Amino acid sequence: MEKVKTIKSEDIAENSSALFEINTHQIALFNYEGQFYAIDDMCSHAEASLSEGEVYDCRVECPLHGAEFDLKTGEAVTFPATKSVNTYKTEIIDGYIYVEMGTNA
Ligand code: FES
Repeated sequence: MEKVKTIKSEDIAENSSALFEINTHQIALFNYEGQFYAIDDMCSHAEASLSEGEVYDCRVECPLHGAEFDLKTGEAVTFPATKSVNTYKTEIIDGYIYVEMGTNA
């Protein structure tokens, strides 16, 4: 398990997201109502960046075809996506978001 320091939590406004690369792996970071979530950035349906999606109801909506993913579980909640995306544990230390790679949240 590798705990990786990313960006400052204050750099992601509430109900928005940011993209961060960890070992060539694109991770989408979300701030939903003050809680931070990390999931794979690549949609499980096709090539779209989930960090560019709209955030609401603790979900992100894929900007390409509109599938929604649960930020806590990575589950594809609506079509056309049917496969989950990976989720990662997050922790705030000294104002920075740390992401635990290699473990599902
Ligand atoms: S690429 Fe995300 S729903 Fe199609």
